[in-house]
Amino acid sequence: MGWHFHHQHPSLEKTAERRMPARVIFARLLGYLSPYKGWIATVVLSVIVTSITDIASPYILGREIVSRYVLRGDLEGLKTIIAVFIGIQVANWIANTVRTYGLGKIGQSLLFRIRERVFAHLQELSFSFFDRSDTGDLISRVTNDTDAIGEAFTSGLIQVASDILILFMTIAVMFSINVQLSLASMIVVPMIVAIAIIFNSKFRAAYQMQRTRISNVTSKLQESISGIREIQSFTRERDAMREFRNANLENFQANLRATKVWGTFFPTIQLMQAIGTGIVILYGGWLSLSGALGPIEDAVGTLITFMLYVGMFFGPIFDLTNFYNTIQSAFAAAERIFEILDVEPEIKDSEDAVEIPKVRGEIEFRNVTFGYNSKRPVLHNISFHIKPKETIALVGPTGAGKSTIVKLLCRFYDPQKGQILIDGHDIKKIKRKSLRRQMGIVLQETFLFSGTIMDNIRYGRPDASDDMVMAAAKLVGAHEFIERLPDGYNTKIGEGGAGLSVGQKQLVAFARALLRNPAILILDEATSSIDPYTDLLIRKAMKLLLKDRTSIIIAHRLSTIRDADRIFVIDNGRIVEEGTHEDLLRKGGLYSRLYEMQFKEPSAEAITSSSRKRK
Ligand SMILES: Nc1ncnc2c1ncn2[C@@H]1O[C@H](COP(=O)(O)OP(=O)(O)OP(=O)(O)O)[C@@H](O)[C@H]1O
Ligand SMILES: [Mg+2]
Repeated sequence: MGWHFHHQHPSLEKTAERRMPARVIFARLLGYLSPYKGWIATVVLSVIVTSITDIASPYILGREIVSRYVLRGDLEGLKTIIAVFIGIQVANWIANTVRTYGLGKIGQSLLFRIRERVFAHLQELSFSFFDRSDTGDLISRVTNDTDAIGEAFTSGLIQVASDILILFMTIAVMFSINVQLSLASMIVVPMIVAIAIIFNSKFRAAYQMQRTRISNVTSKLQESISGIREIQSFTRERDAMREFRNANLENFQANLRATKVWGTFFPTIQLMQAIGTGIVILYGGWLSLSGALGPIEDAVGTLITFMLYVGMFFGPIFDLTNFYNTIQSAFAAAERIFEILDVEPEIKDSEDAVEIPKVRGEIEFRNVTFGYNSKRPVLHNISFHIKPKETIALVGPTGAGKSTIVKLLCRFYDPQKGQILIDGHDIKKIKRKSLRRQMGIVLQETFLFSGTIMDNIRYGRPDASDDMVMAAAKLVGAHEFIERLPDGYNTKIGEGGAGLSVGQKQLVAFARALLRNPAILILDEATSSIDPYTDLLIRKAMKLLLKDRTSIIIAHRLSTIRDADRIFVIDNGRIVEEGTHEDLLRKGGLYSRLYEMQFKEPSAEAITSSSRKRK
């Protein structure tokens, strides 16, 4: 399976080159169509009916209506044949309607299923995948690329079958009427094919470029919307605009290039068609005058039929080359989607993973070494043991590895070396869901979903009643501010928690974590900047929050740190000190320095000299 890239940090390729064989892509796409066998059969049948009726029309018009009845004045016969002609048109109309609807149904179902699969797969992927991925690019793959596939399937795949059918039937009918005239009208076919081949390579390059360029546009758009606050704060609107304009311009140029290729291709084909028709008229005229086409009545009908046929087989050739490009771009798109589907979650339940019952909350790290990039460890050989119901505070300079420790404990990443145990179970042997069910987690970057406050707190436990939600909010001291919001608990907040302050968001996140009533509580505080009054509220809440469970708190507020049973001081990926607040102050090490800086009057000099010391 050469297109997989199973090195340790797979990330999505952004190049325009295709690495998956077309046959593989096609087989996989067909896999998505298997539930629609009935519809596919219906569509195939209607395609056959459409094609046959399409072919029949010029024949009936020229050879029958004109030659046999109109020019020979057979009125009775004319009435019958016109009835037949109308019948054929009606059949054509019905078959066409069924075909169009059926194709739409199949194509849309395909889109639906692919989007669903990709979404489900994204839910399974590990943090590390998202660390490496570009959100905009992912979004573009799920939206733009699936669209391209749908397009190919709705307008392309079956169309091509009908084109081939029409092409061969037309040629067969033409030859059965007159071999010489058929050969003459096909003089231009080799030229058309040559032109199509020349244009194909240009089309392919242009379409592939379009796909990557539109993804860039989506990326830039997504990034600037997410970062709009920073953009405006730093008055970088112009730069954002410039970057977007570049991506947009490149996309525009790619589209323009495709249009240019298209624009020269189309008239060229039309010119060929005109030449073909000209040849039919010239040579056909000469043939009829020389009597080779039979009596003049028949000759006129034959000419009409041939002229109509020539128009008909240029269409399919034209469609076929166009289809080739649609399918190219669809395959490029499909590959970009399959690339996502082929990313294996790095964190998976092992075969022998077990469900664990409610844990006591004993945590042990044994010689854990971990780096987001395995070559650059950020935690070095960390070992510690936490007793059930103990409260541990992690403190240390920024970038020391505090958040990393709790992310490992939740098994968002697996350590490269060492083991992490909960109640003596290696967490690699515990089903992930079962593991995380034990935990209430407040991550450093709190994310709230758009919806009401009530919904957001309940996110921790979907079956919780309103009363339980409020009780949790009261415990963490969030109740007061929520009550003061315009609609209380039913106040709607925007994506990412827009409309709440950072402190408020954290309180909501606390409530959410508490609602799970977890055996292990993990709090990664975002900020120490909570006003003294809220601080007091939280301090009281914390007492309740931390009772009866194991807690790891990455704390910035002195009160929480002081109340912890033990403090681990982390520096540069190592636990450098450990003990109670008093122990550590007495020791006069890093903790006491941090304490001096953060909680005593901080002087600029202390900060710079200390940071110099750390370097
Ligand atoms: N997703 C990530 N991918 C790669 N490197 C990361 C990632 N997250 C953190 N790091 C790196 O790992 C190191 C430890 O980061 P970590 O987030 O654990 O620090 P921290 O102690 O929580 O800091 P802070 O107090 O600022 O939150 C840092 O050097 C950081 O650059
Ligand atoms: Mg952190």
